[in-house]
Order: sequence, then C-alpha cells, then structure tokens
Amino acid sequence: MANTELIYSEEFSPHTRDVLLGKVSSQMSAKRFTHVLRVEEMALELCELYQGNPEKVSIAALTHDYAKERPDDEMIQVIKDSHLSDELISYGNAIWHGVAGAELVRDELGITDEDILDAIRCHTTGAKEMSLLAKIIYVADYVERGRDFPVVAEARKIALSNLDEAVAFETKQTLLYLVKQEALIYPKTLETYNHWVVK
Ligand SMILES: [Fe+2]
Ligand SMILES: [Fe+2]
Repeated sequence: MANTELIYSEEFSPHTRDVLLGKVSSQMSAKRFTHVLRVEEMALELCELYQGNPEKVSIAALTHDYAKERPDDEMIQVIKDSHLSDELISYGNAIWHGVAGAELVRDELGITDEDILDAIRCHTTGAKEMSLLAKIIYVADYVERGRDFPVVAEARKIALSNLDEAVAFETKQTLLYLVKQEALIYPKTLETYNHWVVK
C-alpha cells in the first residue's frame, strides 16, 4: 500500500494523516522529515508482510521521532513531570526522544493508543516484550531505504524474511556499535540483547 492511499479511521489519531504530517514536519528539519516518511514506507511494507494494522503502523512511524529535536532542558522537564526514572537523565536525547517523546506524542498530538505509544517508547532500545507494531517500527527505523551503513543490506534482507531475526540482528549490531564507541549503554538495550540475541 502506498502511504498516500492510507485514510485514517479516527480510531487511533484525532488527526487525518495530512494534518499529522504537518504537525510532525513542523517539529524537525526537512532531512529528518524525509527519514520519517521513509520509515513509514518501510514500516508499511513490513506491515503488509507480517499482517499488522497499517493505520497504527503509519501513525507510529510518523510520530516515532516527534521529539528528536526538542531541546534537552524541555526533555528533562518531561522526564520529571511524567515521573519517569531519574536514571534516564544520564542518557541523552538518543534515548529520551523515544521513552519521553511518547509522552509528548500523547499530550500534544492526542494519540493515546498504548500500543502506538509503546512502539515509540522502545524504538531505539527495543524491549524484552515487543508487540508486532513495536517490532515493525524498531526494524523499519533501522533499515529504511535511506540508511547507509555496512550491514544495512543484510539487515534489510533479514527484515523481509523474518521479523524476530531482524530484531535480534539489529540489537546485536547496535550493541556492537555502542561498545565500539565506548558509549554509555541504556540498561533496556542490554535487556533487549539478553532476550533477543543470547542463545
Ligand atoms: Fe528515533
Ligand atoms: Fe527514526
């Protein structure tokens, strides 16, 4: 299904897709917005393959990076106001825009479906328990057709043949990358690794 053929039912978003596109694009650079559109395209492809709900997939894909360009002080305030774990403060927006970004998607865009919000929450870290929607968004974000990194072709191929294997592959690659960078690892990323990658 081409993205533009999608008509929302109002069950999951108070806004039409067009209105949502406007609200999302107002929050980010043109470059990031094209990434968001490519994530939606990839996610809808996976949705068809693995029989998800295209409307929920589209909404989650369009809003997954809604908070990516919010200033840090605003995100820290969201973490405090929403009583999210204090431990989160030590991480940066790479983690916040998912975990705390979901709060903004709910409060500012009126999207209240917990499955959609959970998919946004765990789109960078994965999770031990992931719904079909969460897996689709996690994987689509990693393999959308604008991505260009050494193992992306392999990741894309796996995504189109086995979604769970794609979750495992992406998690392992992400962890390898973080370790190589000597970056701080969010505990939930390790939990995802322990659940999906460890044999
Ligand atoms: Fe993101
Ligand atoms: Fe993204």
